[in-house]
Amino acid sequence: MNGATVRRSAARPVFDVGRIRADFPILDIKVAGKPLVYLDNAASSQMPQPVIDRLVRYQREEHANIHRGVHYLSETATAAFESARGKIARFIKAREEREVIFTSGTTESINLVMHGFGRKFIGAGDEIILTTLEHHSNIVPWQMLAEEKGAKIRVVPIDDSGALLVDDYEKLFNERTKFVGLSHVSNALGTVNPVKAMIAFAHARGVPVLLDGAQAAPHLAIDVQDLDCDFYAFSGHKLCGPTGIGILYGKAAQLERMQPFKGGGDMILSVSFEKTTYNVIPYKFEAGTPPIAAAIGLGAAVDYLSGVGMAAIAAHELELLGRATEQVNRLPGVRILGTAEHKAAVLSFIVEGVHPHDIGTLLNQDGIAVRTGHHCAQPVMQRFKVPATSRASFAFYNTLAEVDALVAGIRNVQKVFA
Ligand SMILES: Cc1ncc(COP(=O)(O)O)c(C=O)c1O
Repeated sequence: MNGATVRRSAARPVFDVGRIRADFPILDIKVAGKPLVYLDNAASSQMPQPVIDRLVRYQREEHANIHRGVHYLSETATAAFESARGKIARFIKAREEREVIFTSGTTESINLVMHGFGRKFIGAGDEIILTTLEHHSNIVPWQMLAEEKGAKIRVVPIDDSGALLVDDYEKLFNERTKFVGLSHVSNALGTVNPVKAMIAFAHARGVPVLLDGAQAAPHLAIDVQDLDCDFYAFSGHKLCGPTGIGILYGKAAQLERMQPFKGGGDMILSVSFEKTTYNVIPYKFEAGTPPIAAAIGLGAAVDYLSGVGMAAIAAHELELLGRATEQVNRLPGVRILGTAEHKAAVLSFIVEGVHPHDIGTLLNQDGIAVRTGHHCAQPVMQRFKVPATSRASFAFYNTLAEVDALVAGIRNVQKVFA
């Protein structure tokens, strides 16, 4: 499987997956004596050597606390940290670097918006629109806010393919609608939502929109200005970067009118017991010492992804998803959940008569890593009346041969349970 090269038609450039795989040392490990087939990328993706090297170089040669020292190491670390912010701003096409806030991940980014925007601007009787497809991270913070303020959550339903019912979304708006939280790509089903049109509809009614981009940023070229979202949240560890780092993009005008989320060092201009003045954005939202190494590592990760090219990544992953969908569809007794027209990199499935956890355990014996469970998207499971699914999720370093290994693995599971 390693070293496989995907050849494409003359119209498209060759995507050399073998060369890419050589950058990911972990892909060479064996599991249960078999080559690892890592198909749990929606949970966390793997890290290429250039990102590992960048982290090591930082720790060996550049580490100190940032933003407060005049000495060499502090200035070096500060420059590297702020340079990472710039790389990420360019990666998502933010208008300004100060619109990029370092957080610990998507979950914290959404909580930041809930505290900074929600607690200030959403009150009793106001309504927040979410969708059935949301990850718990984009449900629970809003429920906490609704409970605290006496606000109400309205939910956009999905059809049997896992696509949002956009007409129903539009009907949910009224004069009490104050906020929309929307996944760009569903982690449980892979549905790519028509977010640009949904944002335009909300904006025409003066309602700001947060996109949960945790499953979109690793697979699609993101242009926050073109999407015109007010907020965009994603995680480093799903983007070939380190854990413990994430991004909240926010339009400067929105971030400026928000209240701080956490109080502490670095987020202030001056402190006295009479009055504290907050720092300018993005620092107003970055209290305390940030995960400096992880931020720099994420900068290296987006450099790496840009080097491969997000368009090439998306095309290769669609090829993997297409092959997997076609082959799994041919297996009697296997049902794919999530058959929307627009999908990215996720194949959720149910094998008749076999619990997903047993599927995961048996696949693991073949060296194949998939995720089983509710994927922190229990409303999706409730909609399809299943407790759990098995989920294979692809990254650009996966191969067509690995898709075939997955299909053979599922057949084997069926034999064991026949
Ligand atoms: C769509 C979506 N949102 C939010 C999250 C939470 O991300 P994190 O755990 O990195 O904060 C995930 C993680 O799986 C996700 O898939």
